Amino acid sequence: MRAVVYDGPFKVSVKQVQQPKIQHPNDVIVKVTSTAICGSDLHMYEGRTAATPGIVFGHENMGVIQEVGAGVSKLKVGDRVVMPFNVGCGHCQNCEEQKSAFCTEVNPGFAGGAYGYVAMGPYMGGQAQFLRVPFADFNALKLPPGREHESDFVLLADIFPTGWHGVSLSGFQPGESIVVFGGGPVGLMAAYSAVLRGASEVYVVDRIKERLDKAKSIGAIPINFDDGDAVEQIIRRRKGKEVDRAVDAVGYQAVEKGGNTEKPNAVLESLVRVVRPTGGVGIPGLYVPSDPGAPDEAAKKGHLMFPFGKFFEKGLTMGTGQCNVKKYNRYLRDMIISGRAKPSFVVSHEIKLDEAPVAYEKFDKRVEGYTKVVIHPND
Ligand SMILES: NC(=O)c1ccc[n+]([C@@H]2O[C@H](COP(=O)([O-])OP(=O)(O)OC[C@H]3O[C@@H](n4cnc5c(N)ncnc54)[C@H](O)[C@@H]3O)[C@@H](O)[C@H]2O)c1
Ligand SMILES: [Zn+2]
Ligand SMILES: [Zn+2]
Repeated sequence: MRAVVYDGPFKVSVKQVQQPKIQHPNDVIVKVTSTAICGSDLHMYEGRTAATPGIVFGHENMGVIQEVGAGVSKLKVGDRVVMPFNVGCGHCQNCEEQKSAFCTEVNPGFAGGAYGYVAMGPYMGGQAQFLRVPFADFNALKLPPGREHESDFVLLADIFPTGWHGVSLSGFQPGESIVVFGGGPVGLMAAYSAVLRGASEVYVVDRIKERLDKAKSIGAIPINFDDGDAVEQIIRRRKGKEVDRAVDAVGYQAVEKGGNTEKPNAVLESLVRVVRPTGGVGIPGLYVPSDPGAPDEAAKKGHLMFPFGKFFEKGLTMGTGQCNVKKYNRYLRDMIISGRAKPSFVVSHEIKLDEAPVAYEKFDKRVEGYTKVVIHPND
């Protein structure tokens, strides 16, 4: 089959690879209809992780079941399914407690597994024609048959639940105000979730015009940090008042004004300044324990400067980590089916597999409106 393969920093290509087979009775093989490129893939693409050439990328996958293992009980050939980016076993303590992003069984020695991601276990990615799904009864969510809502449902694999989770991590309650740092796909989904969940005010901070425009289109207030310190802009607009909650949907590759210099703690610092005393911050943006390309020695080990004194003084709370997609995906699916949610507003490009290398390059540069790319590998 054909798949998107990592060749080294800033290079992916579409190659012929071995088609996945059933390896365990609870596996299924899915013929991939849609698979999306994620900001998380860019950390690998840019050589900012320990990823080695040869990985097949793709953790945001959906499709139709092609083959089922003998032990699969809930799924059958022909079912349309979407998979959380997390691979969970379904029966370890964390999986049982709805924390499937921290499954201790699928990737021993590391909390959590995922498809097509460095250090996340031996699970080939789905930017390919076919995908093996382990513990399939647990990991595959059934969807209505057909092609309706395809570009909404594919976002259930990661960014819609992750945005929702980021808002939950901040401790958000309906009626509160919230700021989301990062207007990428995850940030836009966090802002959209906050709107759906009844926020009184939602701010989105970024410097990319197309992304700020999308934020505005869903009723959020865009803040461009190229125009000056984002926290000051927000507090000025609110006549001196801080916000209740803040979400970091940027992570360790945060940049300073102008976009040319990375400052890994830029957003962490802003979160503490922008939130009111006793408020909360949610951090779905990715931070890593080892970053070969970090700007200084401490950051190379994932040690970042954090204003802990202010954080303590204000009595803030913080939630972090990968999203437990399974905790949310069936409810968000039902909001899509009923017409309450249409997260596909974030999708900017739908492409064939062959166009993936170009899409990676443009999405990485955040040019030409590349916000969220969905690949259809079998079209
Ligand atoms: N926790 C999870 O489960 C999970 C899941 C998916 C993605 N992620 C992570 O979430 C983050 C965002 O993902 P994405 O797909 O939206 O990626 P993205 O890279 O497209 O979006 C990041 C955005 O942040 C903006 N930005 C950079 N520095 C900034 C700053 N100082 N202030 C405000 N905005 C700034 C960029 O311009 C960009 O638009 C990544 O770190 C990704 O790895 C986490
Ligand atoms: Zn993702
Ligand atoms: Zn588990």
